Amino acid sequence: MVKRKTCIICMLWVIILIIVATSLTLYKYQKYHTHTHQVETKIIVKPSKCEKNETVKYIFNLVHWRETLAKHQTLSKKNQTLWCKIPDDLRLISTAIFRLYDIRNHTHLPCSMIYSSNNTLEDIKCKNNGQISRRSNDDSTDNQAEFTCRHGSTLDLFINKSADYSYPSIIADALHPLPDSLYINILNNKYRSCNTMWGFKLNHESISYYPSTTDPQKSNLFDVTFGYDRSIHEFIPHPWLYSYIEHIKFTPQRLSMQQVMNNKVQINSIKHSDIYWTNQPANSNGQNKRTSVSYVKSSILWMNSNCQTKSQRTQYMRRLMKFIDVDNYGTCGPSILPLPEHVIKIQGSANRTLNDLATYNSAAGKLALAKEYLFTIAIENSLTYDYITEKLWQPLAIGSVPVYLGAPNIHDWLPCQTDCIIDLNKFKTPKDAAMHITQVASNRTLYESYHKWRDQPVSKKFQNILSYFTTMENYNLECILCGMSKQVDQNKDPKEYKKKILKTIGRF
Ligand SMILES: *[C@@H]1O[C@H](CO)[C@@H](O)[C@H](O)[C@H]1NC(C)=O
Ligand SMILES: *[C@@H]1O[C@H](CO)[C@@H](O)[C@H](O)[C@H]1NC(C)=O
Ligand SMILES: *[C@@H]1O[C@H](CO)[C@@H](O)[C@H](O)[C@H]1NC(C)=O
Ligand SMILES: *[C@@H]1O[C@H](CO)[C@@H](O)[C@H](O)[C@H]1NC(C)=O
Ligand SMILES: *[C@@H]1O[C@H](CO)[C@@H](O)[C@H](O)[C@H]1NC(C)=O
Ligand SMILES: *[C@@H]1O[C@H](CO)[C@@H](O)[C@H](O)[C@H]1NC(C)=O
Ligand SMILES: *[C@@H]1O[C@H](CO)[C@@H](O)[C@H](O)[C@H]1NC(C)=O
Repeated sequence: MVKRKTCIICMLWVIILIIVATSLTLYKYQKYHTHTHQVETKIIVKPSKCEKNETVKYIFNLVHWRETLAKHQTLSKKNQTLWCKIPDDLRLISTAIFRLYDIRNHTHLPCSMIYSSNNTLEDIKCKNNGQISRRSNDDSTDNQAEFTCRHGSTLDLFINKSADYSYPSIIADALHPLPDSLYINILNNKYRSCNTMWGFKLNHESISYYPSTTDPQKSNLFDVTFGYDRSIHEFIPHPWLYSYIEHIKFTPQRLSMQQVMNNKVQINSIKHSDIYWTNQPANSNGQNKRTSVSYVKSSILWMNSNCQTKSQRTQYMRRLMKFIDVDNYGTCGPSILPLPEHVIKIQGSANRTLNDLATYNSAAGKLALAKEYLFTIAIENSLTYDYITEKLWQPLAIGSVPVYLGAPNIHDWLPCQTDCIIDLNKFKTPKDAAMHITQVASNRTLYESYHKWRDQPVSKKFQNILSYFTTMENYNLECILCGMSKQVDQNKDPKEYKKKILKTIGRF
């Protein structure tokens, strides 16, 4: 009886599963067809066998191309650039690249962007295992270069010299959409040899700013990807962390709890000699009362200049500032304060202007400010897995507790075994977060617990991060691409080569 009942239930399950599976397949089919209908491009698959045995491998870098053009456009105003007519056999590719960057005049380019020379090509010495060969004095025998990879952005790398000439490998410009007209119709279908490898690298913004790179039609064109998100990318480039690493990993440069506390300024209050700064509740309009009382710092620093972000951080801060006093030295949101003179001096100017691009150092200014604050707002421009920037690392390095909203998996990245950030994700509302911050700010023991980690070893997870990037430092995208191209020349599987490298580096 029981068995029969179970069987009826299990048959029902089977029927439900069949229905679900069928509708999923139909949905996928429909989606696929709408998709391909829009794309209407055919990817030509090149033969997998080829023997070229080139001693030097070339890489054409579209990011480099864009940056070089921008540089020349500034220079050309000063009449310092020599322009050349683009040769006819390069018009196909140059027109497609120009279209990508929305440039009208495609008859001329600075001559140094058309014709290669030792000045326009960078030699990168590589080892057969895919590592960069460094001319360091530590271990000379182990650092022998085994092949050269030449990296540049001159168009003549595409000139079809002979039938057995290989086209260069490509580093894509992920900053711009990956249009079919360039990437599929031109680069893939006309300028891809059997040993041409493609790579792309996201090493500035999060993937959420580059939606076109997650389109499977396009991402399948790439042989190697570098980016922050471990669930998507194979190799993780040096994250923002690395500018501050010496001040975060256990070294003499890391500030101890005592040093951090010495940098905080106590307020003169007989009653609360232990309270550093008071958080004055803001009035209901979100205006603080700083004008009516003698100048008292709040405990929280906020300093952002990119105000419209996917994370909507300005909106979050507007709400938070209704419940807690914040010193706002950025350019977003309410109650903006002028930068103190000493900070202007440290960062080179009050704000970035064209004339001081080279000397302006906003990071130095922010560090000088954050050092004195109990807390520093650290809200990323996008709330994306593994995307963690200087906004977190600067306050951690200088001894201010980050009030963090960003990567949902932030705890995978923290160096501390005890608390070291205020995680805004843990509070239902900005009001709840404000109440918690007020509590921590007014209890020295509690506040100091956020700096306990400074006198302890870093977390196990963080040790794994350090060891990953120590190994990763021996590799770069160029040597991996060139190394894979060489594998094809020898009729070996470039994917196996890449797998071996990935295995050597490991994961974290
Ligand atoms: C290329 O090199 C491989 C291994 O070094 C060799 O077996 C092959 O004969 C070479 N091919 C050509 C065309 O030189
Ligand atoms: C720019 O360079 C051209 C040729 O090199 C020269 O004839 C012209 O006078 C220069 N213009 C200025 C403003 O220097
Ligand atoms: C394109 O730019 C070059 C160099 O600046 C100039 O000589 C040429 O006349 C321009 N062509 C068009 C169609 O504007
Ligand atoms: C350019 O560099 C190559 C090697 O990278 C070297 O053999 C060659 O002599 C250089 N040419 C000039 C003109 O410096
Ligand atoms: C390159 O040369 C080969 C053979 O000479 C030819 O078949 C091919 O169409 C050429 N490719 C381009 C892009 O001109
Ligand atoms: C930059 O600072 C100057 C004063 O130092 C000010 O006049 C100007 O408006 C500021 N520019 C911006 C974009 O904030
Ligand atoms: C301050 O925080 C510590 C640690 O959380 C706690 O034990 C203590 O009771 C708090 N003191 C006050 C006055 O709330």
